[in-house]
Amino acid sequence: MTGPAQAHGTARITASVYTSHVPAIGAALDLGKSHEPYWQKVFAGYEFSKEWLKASAPDVIFLVYNDHANAFSLDMIPTFAIGTAAEFAIADEGWGPRPVPKVIGHPELAAHIAQSVIQDDFDLTIVNKMDVDHGLTVPLSLMCGQVDAWPCPVIPFAVNVVQYPVPSGRRCYDLGRAIRKAVHSYDQPLKVQIWGTGGLSHQLQGPRAGLINAEFDNAFLDRLIADPAAQAAVPHIDYVREAGSEGIEMVMWLIARGAMDDGAPKVSHRFYHVPASNTAVGHLILENV
Ligand code: DHB
Ligand code: FE
Repeated sequence: MTGPAQAHGTARITASVYTSHVPAIGAALDLGKSHEPYWQKVFAGYEFSKEWLKASAPDVIFLVYNDHANAFSLDMIPTFAIGTAAEFAIADEGWGPRPVPKVIGHPELAAHIAQSVIQDDFDLTIVNKMDVDHGLTVPLSLMCGQVDAWPCPVIPFAVNVVQYPVPSGRRCYDLGRAIRKAVHSYDQPLKVQIWGTGGLSHQLQGPRAGLINAEFDNAFLDRLIADPAAQAAVPHIDYVREAGSEGIEMVMWLIARGAMDDGAPKVSHRFYHVPASNTAVGHLILENV
C-alpha cells in the first residue's frame, strides 16, 4: 500500500461504504425470510459487497448512523455522539434485541478521534455506554450477512436527524474532513473504513407517508460521488421537501464522503432499489485510490 499516511505508519481511511438501514431488512434476515422474492431483490445488491468487505479486511469501521429514540430520547439529544466504549449492546426496539453479535468498539482510536475533532472545533458528545439500534446493526447485517461475530471493531457515531434542529449537510461534510485528519494522525497502521448510513428518500408519517423520489436520490448519488462539496451546500429543507421527512437521514452520507481523500474515488459498487418497506434503498462503495 502507498500514500502519505502509510509512509508515516499511521492509520488511513481506505474506503467508504454507504447504505440504507430499513429495519424490515433486519427482520427479514432474523426471521429467515431473506429468500423471499421481495427481499431477494434487496439482498442481490449486497452480494458483491459482502465479498468485497471480506477481501478489503478493515481493521476498524467508523460507522455513522442515527439512533431512533432508542439510546437517546427527548430527554437528551446530542447532535454528534461518538461511542468510546469497549463494547455496545444491541438495543431492544420493542420486540427484543435483534439476534446479532454485540458490537466491539475501539476505545483508543475513538478517544483519539474525539480529541482531534473536538480540538478542531466540532463539539462531540462522548458516550461511554450506549445500545445500538437498527441504524447501526442493519448496515452491518447487509454487509456481513448472518455471522457469529462482526469482522472487526466498530466505532459507533450517532447523528441527530430525528429531533429538530438537525445538522446541515455542510456541517456533516466538514466534520468528515476533520475525522479524516484525526484518523490520519493516529499512530497505528490501521485500515479504517467509514460508513455513512440511512436514507434514501422516505417518509414514514403524515399525508406524504410512502413518498419516494428516485430522481432526487439518483442525483444525490451522482453528486455525492462526483461533486460532494456541491451536495454539501444543499440545505436540509431540500432533503425534507424532496426526499421526505426521513430523507434527512441522507446528510449522514456526507460525513463519510468528507472523510475520503480529495480527488475522485473509485466507484466500486452502486445499487439502487425501490422500495424496501417504505424506503428507497441506496448503496455505494467508494475506495480511495
Ligand atoms: C423504515 C425506514 C427507516 O429509516 C426507519 O428508521 C424505520 C422504518 C421503513 O422504511 O419502514
Ligand atoms: Fe431510519
